[in-house]
This record gives sequence, C-alpha cells and structure tokens, in this order.
Amino acid sequence: MKALVLAGGMGTRLRPLTHAMPKQLVPVVNKPVLFHGLEQIARAGVTEAAVIVGDWHREIREAVGDGSLFGLEITWIQQEAPFGLAHCVLLAREFLADDDFVMYLGDNVFSDGIADLADAFRRTRPDAQVAVVRVPNPEEYGIVEAGPDGRVTALREKPRAPRGNLAVAGAYFFSPLVHDAVARIEPSLRGEWEITDAIQLMVAEGRDVRAAEITGWWRDTGRIDDILDCNRLLLDRLETAVAGTVDEASTVLGAVVVEPGARVVRSHLRGPLVIGAGSVVEDSYIGPHTSIGADCVLTDAGLSHTIVLDRATVTDVNGIHGSVIGRSARVGISPPGDGRHRLVVGDHTELRVLA
Ligand code: G1P
Repeated sequence: MKALVLAGGMGTRLRPLTHAMPKQLVPVVNKPVLFHGLEQIARAGVTEAAVIVGDWHREIREAVGDGSLFGLEITWIQQEAPFGLAHCVLLAREFLADDDFVMYLGDNVFSDGIADLADAFRRTRPDAQVAVVRVPNPEEYGIVEAGPDGRVTALREKPRAPRGNLAVAGAYFFSPLVHDAVARIEPSLRGEWEITDAIQLMVAEGRDVRAAEITGWWRDTGRIDDILDCNRLLLDRLETAVAGTVDEASTVLGAVVVEPGARVVRSHLRGPLVIGAGSVVEDSYIGPHTSIGADCVLTDAGLSHTIVLDRATVTDVNGIHGSVIGRSARVGISPPGDGRHRLVVGDHTELRVLA
C-alpha cells in the first residue's frame, strides 16, 4: 500500500500563523502536525509516500527532508492551486500506478493512528474504505450513510440537511478503481474536484465502498482552537522526560518534558507540558496543556493551555490562556507609569486583553 499525503492547503483559517508558515508545519507538542501524520502512515506499514505540496513546497520539503526520519521514501508532487482532493489523486496517477493507497490529509491527527484502518482494508479489500467518525456538526463534513454492515449507500459533501452524523475523517483507502471515478467527475460549486463526488460515483455504480469507524479521537487542525485541542489531547498521553535542568527551587507536578539544554529556574511546572530545547523559564508558572518551543525565554510569566513557538519571549505577563504565540514574538508589559498598551500586531492577528 502506498500513501498520498495532501499538504497543499493554504490554511487561511490559521492566520496569522500561516502568513509565515504552512499549516502543516504548525507545531503540536513541539512537532509539526504533518510529522504526526507521516509517523502514523509509516506505522501502518507504508514505505512509499507522495506528498502533494502547493505554494509552501520549499518550507515543507526542507522540514521533511528525504523522509528517512519517518522510514518513508518520499516523492514530491507540486499542485499549482488548491483544486480539490480528487485533483490530487489525478496529479499522483503515475506515482500511484495500479497500487492500493491511503490518501491522508496532512493536517489531520488520529489518536490511534491508521494502522488498524489499513489492516481492515487489507483484510476485507473493498473497492474503497473511508474512515468515519461521529460528529456533532455534520453540515461541516462529508457525511456517509451506511448499512449495519458498514457498506456505504450514500455520501454527501457538507449536506445542508444531513442524514446522520457519520463524518468522513481524513484517511481514505482506495483500490486503483478510484482512478476511473476521479477521471469522470466535474468540479463542484466551490470549484474543486471533490473526492466525495468520486466516491459517490463508485457507490452509485455498485462498487463496494466501506465505512470504517475509528476508535479514539480525530482532529482536523484547521483552526487555532483545533490546534490547541489537538495539542491538549496529545499532551494528555505525555510521559515525563527531563533532559534539561530543573533547579531545586522549582516544583514539578504531572507529566513534563524538558528538552535538552532547556533550563527551569524558580518556577512551577504543572503538566502535562513540554519545554523545548534551549528555552529558559525563570520565576514563571507553566500550567497544563502548554507547549513551549525551542529557544524561548519566559520570565515572570504565567501560561496554560497555550502553544509558544520557537524563540518567542514572554516577560512579566501572567494569566495567558488558550493562546498561540508565534515565532520570535515578544509579549511584555509597558514601562512603569506609561499607562498605555503598545501593540505591534501582524495581519489577521487576534488579541484579547482584560477588560
Ligand atoms: C474535506 C472533505 C470532507 C471531510 C473533511 C475532513 O473537507 O471534503 O468530506 O469530511 O475534509 O476534515 P474540507 O476540509 O476540504 O472542507
């Protein structure tokens, strides 16, 4: 089985972060979200993957390298514009040849990986198999109707009047029969070649399309709150590992990772949390579900449920919660007696100060 990884999306809902980096490289527990996916693909027994990239191809290729980090042999495919998931299958036709493959959305994370899903596909070998999960907001996803045996009877993209709540999650398993369907669909109203249309065509023509309900959770990290939530869920499984230093005057509660070269001084750590390599945390409180990147400096700071990217500094500010602080950003207070806020805020930034 090969893998087709989609990493071409622009990530407009993750601005301002995605003004400066592709959404696939936004860190979750100090690792680009795409890396979590590539690891899960390798664990499913896949060794050859094609990654579809768009405008951010340079950054993504540089981060992923040749794939040996994951045990994958990677082929890069450039997509000129986001023309849809089925368009990606068209672009990868030569790479995929006549092999079975898993199509994986590069900003998705499955708590239990996709190995069981891949095994189920190999074992039952239907014409196609989609991973599904029950959601409270079915109008925002591709929605599957399936019989009790898991056989899909209908599939609709973001239906206004959804029948059921079984949403398509970001892992699709295909036999080479999908290529014939992909070649025969037309772009949708949003101007994209939709994979749901291709699968729906397979269903309509009597092909064996299966829904495999996932165990555990699944997150599409399309928005800031999803990123924070995914970070929280992954941190909940963290195991303590202290390679850096934590001084005697600091306290540690719960699972914490202090990466090599990081220093924690006179601070309170309340895990689960991770402090990246080379970061310095002094006289601060770091609360649950927080990830601090590499080479950050936190002084007299208080943060929880927050992601801090590399080289950021936070000085004298407490009560930071549910926040994402970008690379090399500086958060601090005004000089004593100034009485005013100073804001140098990038495009599409969100800022909320205490009333
Ligand atoms: C895509 C698929 C949709 C699926 C969703 C999962 O939607 O078209 O069927 O449920 O991913 O995240 P998009 O993110 O392109 O709107």
